[in-house]
Amino acid sequence: MPVKPNIDFRLNKPFLTSIIEIKQENKNVKTFIVDYNPIDEPIEMKPGQFVMVWIPGIDEIPMSISHIGWENRMAITVAAVGDATEALHKLEVGDQIGIRGPYGNWYEPKDGTAIIVGGGIGMASVLPLIDQLVKEQKNPTQFELDQVICIEGAKTESDLLFMNEIADIYADETAMEFCTDDGSCGFKGFTTEKLDMLLQQEIEAQKARNETSPITVYSCGPEIMLKKVFEICEKYNVEVQASLERMMRCGFGMCGLCALEPTGLLVCFDGPIFTNEVLRKTTDFGKFHRDFSGKPFKI
Ligand SMILES: Cc1cc2nc3c(=O)[nH]c(=O)nc-3n(C[C@H](O)[C@H](O)[C@H](O)COP(=O)(O)OP(=O)(O)OC[C@H]3O[C@@H](n4cnc5c(N)ncnc54)[C@H](O)[C@@H]3O)c2cc1C
Ligand code: FES
Repeated sequence: MPVKPNIDFRLNKPFLTSIIEIKQENKNVKTFIVDYNPIDEPIEMKPGQFVMVWIPGIDEIPMSISHIGWENRMAITVAAVGDATEALHKLEVGDQIGIRGPYGNWYEPKDGTAIIVGGGIGMASVLPLIDQLVKEQKNPTQFELDQVICIEGAKTESDLLFMNEIADIYADETAMEFCTDDGSCGFKGFTTEKLDMLLQQEIEAQKARNETSPITVYSCGPEIMLKKVFEICEKYNVEVQASLERMMRCGFGMCGLCALEPTGLLVCFDGPIFTNEVLRKTTDFGKFHRDFSGKPFKI
């Protein structure tokens, strides 16, 4: 199970900060870079964690931290899907937003082979992990990585995110597998089909070499994709660390809106990253979410 978060309660109120830079990632996605120094000391953020973003006068919404490692600076990458995200997209450099966090647990890197599966805007959560793992592979300090493979999926080539950052992170592009629904870039098909093929190949190759080395799958994306990723990992007896989304109000375990059925585990506090053991027990996984009144709706 990924590590339990340790919330710094000094970070539980929105810190108003100006947008420093905005990058248009594709027609529907923008990255916003802000300074974040609410307590005037470095704030530790880990790949997979999220912040609550307040758009004054509109709403406060959860967003993964998409870029980590700049002093006092962080980024979120936002798909415009509704009121708050569309309002965020209309903001300009110099406009202010509120940030609180980071919240939640984080991906826990393991030895062996790492396979990262990112679907659509889910790439925002796994991008800092790819960076961390590739750096660790080049210069091991904490764990022994045999290989780091990333499978990114989107509808078409123009929807694929972070192509430049990924090219910078990976000197060797063979470790990157792009999948598009229409075949406009890379493999024509879903990330999950690619994952199934890669796992089968890797496990057969290990058998042929008469060795077993651990494989861990890290994933974020639409829940239908995550459910399939989980089922494939169960089939091959491989650990998965999947980042789930639920409606969130508080972001740190107070309101109960993001509880999973039937365990009551909170996506904001016990997650957002869960492994096989919890996913096996979660009856709403891949089936339904709750709206802001707590009423379930099918996904
Ligand atoms: C931990 C976490 C990390 C996230 N990271 C990102 C990210 O990096 N980039 C990004 O673009 N989005 C991310 N999201 C989803 C984002 O929070 C929602 O898209 C956003 O809250 C929608 O707000 P809205 O007012 O624009 O849309 P609304 O008008 O509220 O809703 C539009 C659609 O989004 C769905 N939605 C609304 N709120 C949520 C929510 N909290 N979780 C899931 N679906 C929701 C609604 O069901 C509806 O289908 C994340 C969500 C969570 C829980
Ligand atoms: S969002 Fe309030 S408990 Fe998770």
